[in-house]
Amino acid sequence: MADTDFDVIVIGSGPGGYVAAIKAAQLGLKTACVESRETLGGTCLNVGCIPSKALLHASELFAEATNGALAKFGVKVGQVGLDLDTMHAEKAKAVKELTGGIAFLFKKNKVEWLKGRAAFTGQNSIDVAGKAYTAKNIVVATGSSVTPLPGVDIDNEVVIDSTGALALPQVPKHLVVIGGGVIGLELGSVWKRLGAKVTVVEYLDQILPGMDKEIRADATKIFKKQGFEIRTSTKVTKVERNGAGAVVTVEPAAGGAAETIEADVVLVSIGRRPNTDGLALERAGVQVNNRGMIEVDHSFATKVPGIWAIGDVTPGPMLAHKAEDEGIAVAENIAGQTGIVNHDVIPAVVYTHPEIASVGKTQEELEAQGIAFKVGKFPFMANSRAKTNRDTDGFVKVIADAKTDRVLGVHIISSLAGTMIAQAAQAMEFGATSEDIAYTCHAHPTHSEAMKEAAMAVTGLPIHI
Ligand code: FAD
Ligand code: NAI
Repeated sequence: MADTDFDVIVIGSGPGGYVAAIKAAQLGLKTACVESRETLGGTCLNVGCIPSKALLHASELFAEATNGALAKFGVKVGQVGLDLDTMHAEKAKAVKELTGGIAFLFKKNKVEWLKGRAAFTGQNSIDVAGKAYTAKNIVVATGSSVTPLPGVDIDNEVVIDSTGALALPQVPKHLVVIGGGVIGLELGSVWKRLGAKVTVVEYLDQILPGMDKEIRADATKIFKKQGFEIRTSTKVTKVERNGAGAVVTVEPAAGGAAETIEADVVLVSIGRRPNTDGLALERAGVQVNNRGMIEVDHSFATKVPGIWAIGDVTPGPMLAHKAEDEGIAVAENIAGQTGIVNHDVIPAVVYTHPEIASVGKTQEELEAQGIAFKVGKFPFMANSRAKTNRDTDGFVKVIADAKTDRVLGVHIISSLAGTMIAQAAQAMEFGATSEDIAYTCHAHPTHSEAMKEAAMAVTGLPIHI
């Protein structure tokens, strides 16, 4: 191939793209990353993982101060007030620090930031803001954006998407969330804790699709106990602006009588779709599948030599850590090394309170595949640290192969589930059996002991129940 401007150009600077660019540069490849946003870091750092977790953390502190959680432990606070502007400012500070951190890492690793929107002009060439660039390898890491609900206009004032829900200037009296998935429950939790009434309208018969059935059922119970109104098997047929608010028309998913719900704010969170508009993929000969995603092989190569794709724009869970790991692997593959991601062991965490975390197969998936399995469960009600902290919601469920005892899936509801799931992911990556976990010494008193006890329950009996 004739000389090119770069060895690698990465399109998109989200967790997939920025990690791929840094890793490629670390491996000695001349690398650029194209980003059209004003700051690096993609959805995750700018309008996703980071600002949502900032608001989840802040709103949890507010809830603890107002709902009696502190008072129960004898911590007396005076009149508790909400300064939403300060809460938003602290969130913005975290976003600024972290997106600025990527700019620093780009400089440190000599990754050139090409500012603007990229469009392919050929197999090895792109246009960015009217300038042509060539590269031996181009990695598409353009991420995803909100799936619109047909007939519902998002104005980000009254009818909002997740980005709007991260920036509401005041607490709505009644927030109607369309979609009982991760975004609806996390951002619904933020505004619920700050004082909103929250109604979740979910099309399916249960919230949190993809999670283990027992986890979904327990989560529903817990969220209802917290005061969420959850309307499953219900579809939204219309959302109409009504002065300062909106009227949402719903009916049973299976058909039936319609009814209306009045809301101050309506959050549309029914999923995300891959970003390929305007990329002119056809000029490079890259095709998308029927869901608009770019298909890749196990090395993240598309069918077109020299063009690779990672992260939300490709099939699989739309998660930042999946994108990051693919970013490292694709750079390794481009550099002639062997980059692999084990897609069977990608943890998923919902950062509500309690958190919900999962890795590996659900019980329903194993049943559908006809794989024989054993289950061990342990409730936090019997975990000493959870009891001490008055934090007993949830349980750990370990699923292991009936013949080999190899751990196939772990599912947790707990205030610390997001942290605890790392142990399960590592155990599964190392091919652990439930016995391996059961015979690993876990520090006392910790929530993690519930994982050990659930593993003990797979083949025998736990001690503490
Ligand atoms: P993205 O982060 O979407 O980045 C793609 C980048 O490419 C964008 O910056 C975009 O501007 C840029 N781009 C697109 N097209 C072009 C073009 N033609 N030219 C130049 N630039 C372009 N995941 C988690 O794992 N944990 C969480 O806690 C979590 N919380 C979330 C909360 C919210 C509210 C949302 C919306 C998402 C959350 N996610 C979370 C999902 C996570 O943000 C995504 O999975 C992740 O950002 C995907 O990374 P990516 O690199 O594939 O793409
Ligand atoms: P989601 O796929 O998690 O949930 C969407 C929900 O909307 C589903 O329950 C679905 O059945 C329901 N739905 C679809 N159409 C509907 C309709 N017409 N009426 C009512 N309900 C309908 O999608 P969500 O919450 O928008 O999140 C998008 C992506 O962002 C997810 O894939 C997730 O991986 C990622 N994300 C991850 C987070 C995390 O890791 N903590 C946090 C936030 C987002």
